[in-house]
Amino acid sequence: MNIDVAILGASGYTGAELIRIIDAHPHFTLGRLAAHSQAGKAAGAVLPGLPHPLGAQTLAHVDDPLPESCRLVFTALPHAAAANSVRRALDAGKKVVDLSADFRHQSADIYAQAYGIEHPHPELFADAVYGLSEFARQSVAQSRLVANPGCYPTCTLLPLVPLLRAGVLDDAAIIVDAKSAASGAGRSAKTGLLYCELNESVKAYGLPRHRHAWEMEEWALSFSGREVRIRFVPHILPMNRGMLSTLHLTGEQPEQWHAILQQTFADEPFVHILPAGQLPSTTAVKGSNRCDIGISVIGEREAVVVSCIDNLLKGAAGQAVQNANIMFGFDETLGLNHLPCWP
Ligand SMILES: NC(=O)c1ccc[n+]([C@@H]2O[C@H](COP(=O)([O-])OP(=O)(O)OC[C@H]3O[C@@H](n4cnc5c(N)ncnc54)[C@H](OP(=O)(O)O)[C@@H]3O)[C@@H](O)[C@H]2O)c1
Repeated sequence: MNIDVAILGASGYTGAELIRIIDAHPHFTLGRLAAHSQAGKAAGAVLPGLPHPLGAQTLAHVDDPLPESCRLVFTALPHAAAANSVRRALDAGKKVVDLSADFRHQSADIYAQAYGIEHPHPELFADAVYGLSEFARQSVAQSRLVANPGCYPTCTLLPLVPLLRAGVLDDAAIIVDAKSAASGAGRSAKTGLLYCELNESVKAYGLPRHRHAWEMEEWALSFSGREVRIRFVPHILPMNRGMLSTLHLTGEQPEQWHAILQQTFADEPFVHILPAGQLPSTTAVKGSNRCDIGISVIGEREAVVVSCIDNLLKGAAGQAVQNANIMFGFDETLGLNHLPCWP
């Protein structure tokens, strides 16, 4: 079975990653590549390394009517712009996986607090399912609009939710110290991302409250029933891709937390719990849809849990395709089985 796919935002980093995955997918085919300021150019002139004939394809504009043949649309656009494209795609009868933050919250109020703007299409909140695939398969399968989770929330919630569900954590004292590669900020030009400003440097940003803190707290509560306060401090590092969340946790019997995580993810193709005492690294997941998690018990009531993903894959395009596979009833690993590119 072949399903034509449209990628809106094909000229950006997550869009490029979607092209790479879909190009090798057994059932999804690239039916439309669309961009904004780069529309009208050949895809190969905007994205290096695209072979002929893919590279010769002209990039449509994100606002152009979608081809009838496309049944699935990925919106890899800035927030607010994405919501408008999502509205049009749903009106045209397409299924949508939105990689932006526009439908990750359960209410327009929380969205307005986190993003500082009124939501352009709050009427669509009722349709959206938060697609942290491992915890939301059934609702993703029945949905026409999946809100793909943010990269930091994916990296953090995967280890956090099972421990919250098990009731072993002190809810009020969760510290998440996280690091992201520069591709997490997208492809558009920003002074802070210039080589001289980023290279040889590590810096915290987004304080006092980064947007993703709302998303983490909201979905930690929704998936576990526990209201938590997360002190979240993100940092940007001079590397191309990769994300690492260090969770500083206190609670009951931390020596049992490794077993809780192992049991939760025993049958999961993309979440790997490392042997007790081993900690993950971003290079070991780079280019894959994997999340690697390690734990180190550091006291009678304390442990550090470290989680790593590729921000462009499990943190964006990889999980988006995982969700699309689920929406169309395919094996969710299709197109995503490649090993990491290491080193
Ligand atoms: N990067 C990550 O690691 C990551 C992870 C998770 C989620 N996300 C989310 O995924 C979305 C895409 O991120 P990205 O990193 O791929 O961004 P990006 O590299 O900056 O690409 C943005 C894309 O959106 C288009 N665009 C820019 N301004 C637009 C506008 N006003 N209206 C319509 N289209 C516009 C761009 O087209 P032109 O190039 O033609 O202008 C480009 O194709 C964002 O919402 C981001 O928050 C990103």
